[in-house]
Amino acid sequence: MKIDGRTKVCALIGDPVEHTLSPLIHNSFSESEGVDAVYTAFRVKKGEVREALEGAFALGIQGFNVTVPHKEAVMPYLSDIDPAAYEIGAVNTLVRGENGYKGYNTDALGIMREIKELGIDIKGKRAIMLGAGGAANAVLHALYSLGMTGAFILNRSVEKAEKKFGDDKRNVILPLEKSGDIPGKNYFCVQCTSVGLEPDVDSSPIEDPSFFKKISSAVDIIYKPYETKFMKLVRENGGQAENGLKMLIYQAAESFKLFHGVDLSEESLEEARERLESFLEGR
Ligand code: ATR
Repeated sequence: MKIDGRTKVCALIGDPVEHTLSPLIHNSFSESEGVDAVYTAFRVKKGEVREALEGAFALGIQGFNVTVPHKEAVMPYLSDIDPAAYEIGAVNTLVRGENGYKGYNTDALGIMREIKELGIDIKGKRAIMLGAGGAANAVLHALYSLGMTGAFILNRSVEKAEKKFGDDKRNVILPLEKSGDIPGKNYFCVQCTSVGLEPDVDSSPIEDPSFFKKISSAVDIIYKPYETKFMKLVRENGGQAENGLKMLIYQAAESFKLFHGVDLSEESLEEARERLESFLEGR
């Protein structure tokens, strides 16, 4: 690896950051594309985002990805915010401008790209989303951007989901136990809860087989394990299911494009995916 005075620096900020896969992905992209940049991770404590950004700007850092707990907290300290990120209410990418950093949300772009690639057409249709946590905002925004007409949002805490998504009358909010109230079948579903994440591999937020009979295709945002219990249940009931790895790589690719102005080739994306898979298998 060649690093010199011209090398651009990008990083993740969050807390914790020890287990992030973003450096692996971004450094793989730079290597494949011959971009003179390095990517690292900084642990920034809650309440210290402003100081971190001011210091980073003075140091000439090119861009950031932002993760828990700063995705919303960082917004007041940006020089500009992309309208989609503003609507979502969270940013995950910051790009250096003349007077500060501009915020974007590439999580939504990542899932949109994955849905398109899977050949799933939700235009004019309703879809199902499980969960109402941090990931749900970007997913819901992406689905509406793709022309979805309404969503069934199932969450453990109905009150929390109502508060976040209840104002939009296109959304129907239900507790997880009421999935039987969803009419019809052939739905696309995105699993956005943390249920099923390692080490909790034998759990799914819903286990009722009659729910899974309504699902024709699904994405679980979890990628550890590679096949979640939720994905198994979708497949056992005849649907197609994907894990969250592609979404992770595509959101990184969109961030990379914003940082460096480089559209990644299929080969570079494939290389990063292989590295990621072998890293995850090796653990
Ligand atoms: P984050 O913001 O990091 O995504 P979160 O806000 O805790 O994390 O959201 C995680 C999602 O998983 C939420 O939808 C959460 O449901 P609640 O809103 O009711 O808390 C869901 N979740 C987490 N643990 C769960 C469990 N054991 N059963 C059902 N849903 C669960």
